Amino acid sequence: MRTVVVGASSGLGRCIGVGLAQRGAHVALLARRRERLDDAAKEAGPGTVAIACDATDEESCRSAITDAVAALGGIDALVYAPGIGPLARLVDTDAPTWRSVFETNVMGAALVTRAALHHLTESHGTAVYLSSVSASMTPPWPGLGAYAVTKAALDKLVEAWRAEHPDVAFSRLVVGDCGGGEGDSMTEFANAWDTELAAEVMPEWMARKYLSGSLIDVDHLVNMVDAVLRGGASMSVPSITVAPRPPAK
Ligand SMILES: NC(=O)c1ccc[n+]([C@@H]2O[C@H](COP(=O)([O-])OP(=O)(O)OC[C@H]3O[C@@H](n4cnc5c(N)ncnc54)[C@H](OP(=O)(O)O)[C@@H]3O)[C@@H](O)[C@H]2O)c1
Repeated sequence: MRTVVVGASSGLGRCIGVGLAQRGAHVALLARRRERLDDAAKEAGPGTVAIACDATDEESCRSAITDAVAALGGIDALVYAPGIGPLARLVDTDAPTWRSVFETNVMGAALVTRAALHHLTESHGTAVYLSSVSASMTPPWPGLGAYAVTKAALDKLVEAWRAEHPDVAFSRLVVGDCGGGEGDSMTEFANAWDTELAAEVMPEWMARKYLSGSLIDVDHLVNMVDAVLRGGASMSVPSITVAPRPPAK
């Protein structure tokens, strides 16, 4: 399984990239922080390659996919994990913030897919995109409105690719709370959040039961991705959800 994982320098994308390699895939790890990718590639084992890529930059996507194809000999699977979720109420969300969230969460997914499409079509491959429960299973979470809007747009983007390219199996992976792994594999999603605002909105999330108080085991997430990718285009998995089970009453 020749697999490209974008957003593989930290958190869930790193766990997926390293985990798939350890389950036998030949993996190219992509993200902006090259030195982080080199460490991840070492952990993943021989044959894993690290390639710098800014998903919001068309030329960077094109050249990273060219390098990945040269290293892997083609692409059977693509995983798009980049996602940013600046914590801000909508009334405080300005144009640069909207732009960066859309560029990373939606446009980047489209640009990477476009760059890889020919190779995915040739292999009848699979593309998986990490979405969020806050876009489809719960109402948008206060303070993460822009994030939920872009993940809903990502969900629609996955459907739109599927409608135009039935030869490729496009799948969205709806993810609930997950801390990732340890060290560099830990999620950095909330690292830049304003702690005062976080202290304000988190009780709202708890009160509305958006947070269950538990986290998904990231190995289960990797197993799910592995299963979807192994199915290839012969198996249709338009959407899959991996979320913590709500606490027993
Ligand atoms: N953690 C959760 O509980 C959770 C829940 C639901 C959904 N998700 C989704 O899961 C995905 C991963 O989240 P995470 O928690 O693992 O976050 P994370 O630790 O912040 O990881 C984000 C990854 O995306 C990469 N990235 C960001 N901008 C990029 C760009 N322009 N080009 C290329 N790569 C870029 C980052 O690498 P560089 O900075 O090196 O580029 C990093 O590897 C996101 O899509 C998130 O929305 C997470």
